[in-house]
Parts: sequence; C-alpha cells; structure tokens
Amino acid sequence: MPHLLHEFASEADLVKAVGELSKAFTTDRGNIQKYLSDPRLVSAYTAFYLTTNIPKLEAVLSWLTPDYRAEILQHELIDVGAGPGTFSVAWKELGGGDGVMLETSQLMRDQAARLLPKARFTLAELVKPRLLLFGHSLNEMGVEAGLKYVSEAKPAHVWLIEPGTKEVFALALEFRRRMIRDGWQVRYPCLGMGECPMNGTEDWCHQYVHVRHDPEVERLTQLAQRDRRLLPLTVLMFEREPIAKRDENLARIVRTLPATKFSHEWEVCREEKGLKLERFQLPFKSYPKSEKKAVEALLAGSLIQFETDKQMVDSRRIRLIKEDNSE
Ligand SMILES: C[S@@+](CC[C@H](N)C(=O)[O-])C[C@H]1O[C@@H](n2cnc3c(N)ncnc32)[C@H](O)[C@@H]1O
Repeated sequence: MPHLLHEFASEADLVKAVGELSKAFTTDRGNIQKYLSDPRLVSAYTAFYLTTNIPKLEAVLSWLTPDYRAEILQHELIDVGAGPGTFSVAWKELGGGDGVMLETSQLMRDQAARLLPKARFTLAELVKPRLLLFGHSLNEMGVEAGLKYVSEAKPAHVWLIEPGTKEVFALALEFRRRMIRDGWQVRYPCLGMGECPMNGTEDWCHQYVHVRHDPEVERLTQLAQRDRRLLPLTVLMFEREPIAKRDENLARIVRTLPATKFSHEWEVCREEKGLKLERFQLPFKSYPKSEKKAVEALLAGSLIQFETDKQMVDSRRIRLIKEDNSE
C-alpha cells in the first residue's frame, strides 16, 4: 500500500475501486482505456492484479522442467504492456534478472517506477537473449501492435499470458498464425505447427492454474468477490530456434469432461499428420492408487504421454505412460 500512487482511505475504498476496474474489464470494454488515466484505478489495479498475477507466472514457470526454467530465467525480460510492472516484479521474485518495461501509459510507468526503482522503459542494445512477454496486454493493444514489438525487440522467445476467454483466444489464434508465418515455432501448448483444430469450434483452447495467495490478498479477493484461486488463462510460448522433435504419443488436455463411473474423460489435442482433437478415456483401474492424486490434478493445459489400449468409434481408451505438466 505505501507504494501506490493513490492513498486509499480505507480497505472498503480499495474494494470499491477494484469493483469499478473489473466492470471496465468485463462489461464495459468500450471504455477500457479510461482506467489508465486515473491514479485511483491504476493503484487499485496494482493492489489487486499485481498481487494475484505474481503466483500466475510462478504457476506457468512450474510447467517447465527445472533445466528449461533455469534457462528461461536467464533471459532479459521485455515486459510489453507492463502496466505497474506485474510480470517484471514476478520475474525478479522468481529468480530472473532485470528487464525492460514497454508501456504507453505514463501513470502506469510512474506506478511501476515506485515498485521497481531501477526500472527501464526503453529498449537498449541487445546484450543477452530476450524473452518478450505480453501479460494481459495483447488483448488491449491488438495483433499488429504486438507483432511490431516482436520485430523491434528481436527476442529469442515470445510468451503470451492473457485472460482465458473466447475473445482472447480468437486474437491469440491470429497472433499464432502470423508468428508461424514469420518463422516462429510454437513450444506451448501446440504439439505441431498446423492449423488449430479448435478454430471455428464452440470451444476454445485455454488453461487453468490453481494459485494460492497471501492471507491479506485472499481477503481482498473475497471482499471484491473475485475468485482468483482457479485462474483461466491463455498461454502461448514461441521460440525462434527449431524445437527438437517431440516424443510420440503425447497429448495436450484441452478440456476435462465429466468422469464416467469407471473412467476419466478428456478432450485432447495431438499431432498426427496435423493437429487434431480426440476424446480420451482413462479407466480408474488402469493406474495405481499412488498416482491418483497426480491424475486428478490434471487440468486443461496438462501434457500426457499415453499408450492406446483400445481405439473405439468416437474415443480412445488409454493407459498413461507419464502424466507430467512439464515442457
Ligand atoms: C491489463 S494491463 C496489463 C498490465 C500487466 N502486464 C499485467 O498483466 O498486470 C494492459 C497494459 O497494456 C498497456 N498497453 C496497451 N496498449 C499498449 C501499447 N500499444 N504499447 C504498450 N503498452 C500498451 C496498457 O497501458 C496497460 O497498462
């Protein structure tokens, strides 16, 4: 609280401002830019979304193998549409180094400078490999502006961590198409570079993370009546370098379906002469009790390695070789 631009008179005052903000993000998107010129709302954004997004980055990094995660954190972070520095603060907290924030709102930059006194706001010469991140910002700036940042910053990696909504998925798909056309490889979530099979379906590809907050932050989320413990998000990771060939029999869970009496049911996306959606069925009795917890923790976004037990007309009965969230 002492680092915010605006001093809230009380907790109730802050909760009210958080309510106004979430209205702007959901029902009143035509006026979305308004909050950026109001110190009170910028401060409320910081108190609420900065704190709840830090565990979000932590959860996304936990999907990576320890070696890959360590390698990723060596990169200079180019935090595009950084707002109050949400992901830059998280990056440092989680072991990453200094980075750059590219942000058009002066108030957001002022707020970020209060949180990260060494903050830099312009791209300097390339000294080490960069990871360019759009954190809840591509959906505000649009695909063209996003691609322009990518071509200017010359990063080795580009990540999107955006809200898990249908509208954002449409934008992410367009961004993915354009990035692939420009020679980028998709590391996550897609297991191939072909057309997305969810394009045009009723459903959309998004992931979930379970996050835990400090008690103070948890209290704020409850007062604001915003559940921030199970967060839907749209994550995409791109790499400039070619990605090594992946193991066969990998599948990405894109939707967990209601379990039957004897099996888990999932919709998955996998590569077989192009990307395709399939229904998988994992019988409870096919894995030992010791793996129950890990299997139940699988969510949309998780990666599994499987063997086929039986191919049925509209689904595939499988056995798990490995249930693993890591890339
Ligand atoms: C919802 S906030 C996200 C802030 C932060 N990344 C986060 O996740 O908490 C979106 C930010 O994108 C910024 N933004 C919008 N268009 C932009 C552009 N063309 N260039 C840089 N920043 C932009 C806005 O000013 C705003 O601060």
